[in-house]
Amino acid sequence: MTCPSRLCDSLAMLDKTSQMRRAIANDWLVPPYYEQAENWLDPFWGEETHFRRWFEMLDLTRVVELACGHGRHAAQCIGRVGEITLVDVLQTNIDACRERFGADPRVHYLVNNGNDLPGLESGAYSALFSYDAMLHFELLDVLDYLRETARVLRPGGRALLHVSNNLENPGGHYHQNRLWRNFGSLDVVRHVADRMGLRTLEHTTIDWEGQEAIDGLLLVEKADQ
Ligand SMILES: C[S@@+](CC[C@H](N)C(=O)[O-])C[C@H]1O[C@@H](n2cnc3c(N)ncnc32)[C@H](O)[C@@H]1O
Repeated sequence: MTCPSRLCDSLAMLDKTSQMRRAIANDWLVPPYYEQAENWLDPFWGEETHFRRWFEMLDLTRVVELACGHGRHAAQCIGRVGEITLVDVLQTNIDACRERFGADPRVHYLVNNGNDLPGLESGAYSALFSYDAMLHFELLDVLDYLRETARVLRPGGRALLHVSNNLENPGGHYHQNRLWRNFGSLDVVRHVADRMGLRTLEHTTIDWEGQEAIDGLLLVEKADQ
């Protein structure tokens, strides 16, 4: 169907998930978050956290970090990786990472379309992780990323994913939800991961800022073929 008006906003031409994806990405154009987040690493990298314990179960030979922001997590592990590909939907974030890591030959960069890993070789990566980001994404995009994760991991490769476990407000906008958690479910992600050939090795719900079980964390492994 053609747009009835030349003034038609291009957003109106997009399906609802694509519109939401773009709106969510735009929320993270704001620099203050990234500066503040640099001082807020303990929930992810503290020795006793699930994040840290399960991160230690990844093979860091060839890693993808999805939704890398300004690279605060990559900075924690860069000395241990063979190589790492930093992926984000925002060019501005990839630019910030380029500035941060410079021409380090271990670091590769990718601006994606918000639900894919274009150009990443199939069956080639030992690990993928994503922290503090997928919990804001549209559920359909999370499921697309599961399919892409299953595609790019080598057999035995693992992914550590921090997702929303908020089943409130179906059909709503994530700004209306506690801590901006989009509609999502750890169990749904586990189920779909299984069907895509990603076996769950570990999983837990996570309390965040006093909100009980609002997040989920899972470690999955690609089946040997
Ligand atoms: C809350 S920030 C977290 C950044 C980083 N993971 C961290 O913990 O510092 C959310 C990140 O998700 C990215 N993002 C938003 N929507 C995305 C999408 N659909 N696909 C990939 N990245 C996305 C944003 O650009 C931003 O970098």
